[in-house]
Amino acid sequence: VPYNQEKIDKIKKLKKERNAIILAHNYVLGEVQDVADFVGDSLELSIKARDIDEDVIVFCGVQFMAETAKILSPEKTVLHPVKESGCPMADMATASALRKFKKDYPGAVTVCYVNSTAELKTEVDVCCTSANAADIVSLVPEDKQVLFLPDKNLGAYVAKQTGRDIVLWKGFCPTHMRLTPEDILKKKKEYPEAVTIVHPECRPEVIELSDHALSTGGMLRFAKETEEKQIIVATELGIIHRLQKENPHKLFIPISEQAVCMNMKMIELDHIINALEKNETEIVLDRETIEKARKPIVRMLEKDL
Ligand code: 13P
Ligand code: SF4
Repeated sequence: VPYNQEKIDKIKKLKKERNAIILAHNYVLGEVQDVADFVGDSLELSIKARDIDEDVIVFCGVQFMAETAKILSPEKTVLHPVKESGCPMADMATASALRKFKKDYPGAVTVCYVNSTAELKTEVDVCCTSANAADIVSLVPEDKQVLFLPDKNLGAYVAKQTGRDIVLWKGFCPTHMRLTPEDILKKKKEYPEAVTIVHPECRPEVIELSDHALSTGGMLRFAKETEEKQIIVATELGIIHRLQKENPHKLFIPISEQAVCMNMKMIELDHIINALEKNETEIVLDRETIEKARKPIVRMLEKDL
């Protein structure tokens, strides 16, 4: 019996009482992933949130993810158990700064990584995640300039993949930025047989040294399908939990102890109980923001620019 069985039982009971579903990102604490009804990457979680039947969504991830769930299912109650858990990259691009920036690029199409605030999304043409960024940029007509924000690393990677000349915002993920080429080289030396998978939020020189750049959902699919037995994982360490659980006979080698996003570790089981008992903290967005921010997300989901 797990040491936290009591809390797990309580969550199950509360979930039933409130007709709630728990969604969790691949980076959150293992015990939170284990109590969730669905665990996924940003794209998978958005699709799940859009199609949900329950009345309440408890979203275990960072703020922009919970906001995206609210935008796609505005009639549902969306609870974010620790409201301080945000994404520093999302805060690197404000709507007012973008409005100014766009003046220098009249006619450009703004492609916005979902790791961004709801307010920013009201000012952009289309959203993308790390799973579909290249596909979305490819929808932009060749004669249009692309502005990509906030992540300069994902933007640069997509420019390389698509051969497009992309204007990059200067945001980044502090967690993935910490990973260096030396980290990769060190692990490759220790495990010469291993294949390396990397998140495209890493620096270009780190991506360059890896075999496959993938979203967290892409990494989980790759791990299942590959014949490789040793896999170096260059992303936030929370994903190792699912990788190992789903592939017990493969070896997953975390790139570095530094690859931790503190924001993704804030939500614990007690917070989920508190969220369901006290309705904390409900995501509240005004109607206009929801309507405007919804457009670029729906364009992404329908691949229709
Ligand atoms: P994924 O969409 O690949 O899960 O990435 C989300 C994220 O925050 C990466 O840092
Ligand atoms: Fe944001 Fe990076 Fe944390 Fe993902 S890992 S939520 S991009 S800070």
